[in-house]
Amino acid sequence: MSPGKFITLEGIDGAGKSTQLAWIVDFLQGNGVNVVVTREPGGTPLGEELRTLLLNSSLTMHPETEALLMFAARREHLDKVIFPALSRGDWVISDRFTDASFAYQGGGRQVGITKLENLEQWAQGVLQPDLTLYFDVPVELGQQRIAGIKSADRFEKEQTEFFQRVRTAYLARVEKYPERMLLIDASQSLQKVQEAIRHIMEKVFPLK
Ligand code: TYD
Repeated sequence: MSPGKFITLEGIDGAGKSTQLAWIVDFLQGNGVNVVVTREPGGTPLGEELRTLLLNSSLTMHPETEALLMFAARREHLDKVIFPALSRGDWVISDRFTDASFAYQGGGRQVGITKLENLEQWAQGVLQPDLTLYFDVPVELGQQRIAGIKSADRFEKEQTEFFQRVRTAYLARVEKYPERMLLIDASQSLQKVQEAIRHIMEKVFPLK
């Protein structure tokens, strides 16, 4: 049994990563891979409850409370979903993971990086994704894409400057972890984005 791989998808709201997720799953399943598809915050019954609180636009919370809840949901997710799947040899595809905490809580909300690193160490030990696809779009394009959403959540309601800080923090992580985090220009056509993903997957994990 080949060991499982852990792939995460990241990007600012409106980057289009959720659209790509289904395509990546089809691609992997077509190559005979057992895939567990999940998301953060969420992925477990408790995590989904925390997600509801975290995205509720009528609640306010301290930025560090937000960070702690993100990592609480993540701890549960690792225990109930991610670690068991990887140890079975399945692949895990997660729509967001810890890079989102560094980008949104670290960049967006300006929670101290050392605090986030401590939580990361606490929640996940040495585990890191094998591959992170970061879907990059200019903030204006991301905002145009989410403009049509009727009930914007607590993050989608944020202003341009917030998303600029989130994007800058993501780009800094791509620079810092070039082996694991690969940038995909998600302002291109859907077909071009999928070609870029296929190219990366075939190079990083030769499947056949
Ligand atoms: P998102 O993944 O964009 O889901 P949807 O496509 O259904 O809107 O929503 C999750 C939101 O949570 C997103 O705005 C980013 C935010 N988030 C954080 O702020 N920190 C985190 O650690 C994670 C995992 C998500």
